[in-house]
Amino acid sequence: MNSVETHNLTVIYDKKPAIWNIDFTLPAGKIIGIMGPNGSGKSTLLKAIMDIVEPNMGYVKLMDKPLDDVRDKVSYVPQRLSVDWDFPASVYDVVAMGRYAKRGMFKKLSSDDKKRIDESLEMVNMSAFQNRQISQLSGGQQQRVFLARALAQDADIYLMDEPFVGVDAATEQAIITLLKNMRDQGKTLLVVHHDLHTAQDYFEHMVLLNTRLVAEGPTEEIFNEKILTETYGGTLTTLSKVANVLKEKDFPMRHK
Ligand SMILES: Nc1ncnc2c1ncn2[C@@H]1O[C@H](COP(=O)(O)OP(=O)(O)O)[C@@H](O)[C@H]1O
Ligand SMILES: [Mg+2]
Repeated sequence: MNSVETHNLTVIYDKKPAIWNIDFTLPAGKIIGIMGPNGSGKSTLLKAIMDIVEPNMGYVKLMDKPLDDVRDKVSYVPQRLSVDWDFPASVYDVVAMGRYAKRGMFKKLSSDDKKRIDESLEMVNMSAFQNRQISQLSGGQQQRVFLARALAQDADIYLMDEPFVGVDAATEQAIITLLKNMRDQGKTLLVVHHDLHTAQDYFEHMVLLNTRLVAEGPTEEIFNEKILTETYGGTLTTLSKVANVLKEKDFPMRHK
């Protein structure tokens, strides 16, 4: 089965395209990286998939269906800094929202819901913080609360926007381990990421974006100098970074 399909997906802000004619079909049950330079449309792509921004052209299918048919099976974790963390809510409240996404806002939480919330808090190691206000958390803790909310939803497809930004190395490791466990249970994870050094370790499949789709496919097929240069463009710093990453990993370079 396919997880996410986009067809000619285009979003234009103020006459300037943020994503242009994006066309791909992604496999299910994999951890998929969405990579590209700043402003290349990564966040916009996730938002268009979730219908948070309305595409100017094109359409999306999730598990071969329109979003509205499978909405409770798709979980979106926005960029941490795009959220108002001063909003008065406890850690528990935020994670509980993952259950409400499934059952509607006005139903009481069942014991099943509560069990799932407890388990989700446990999985990200945040049980001890469940009564704390979200404004009182570190960046890494906020990110883990977001993950717990997604886990509580028990979706099939997870879209995550830069989940590793502002978290310490230990938390990053904990999160990637969690994502791999989710993948092993058959979940599909689309993860926006900007660190080229870890990309090959984290992702088995990639979407490389620069307003247009540069490449999409298994990491070992597309993570190479030619495609990365095409994705990241000509800035010297980025280019030398690309070369270093490939050298570090002793990745076979393609010379032509
Ligand atoms: N709400 C918006 N209004 C106008 N322009 C936007 C808006 N959101 C993003 N953009 C622009 O669209 C482009 C893609 O942005 P974004 O999807 O956030 O890229 P990325 O996540 O890859 O950094 C950028 O040029 C950005 O400035
Ligand atoms: Mg972004």
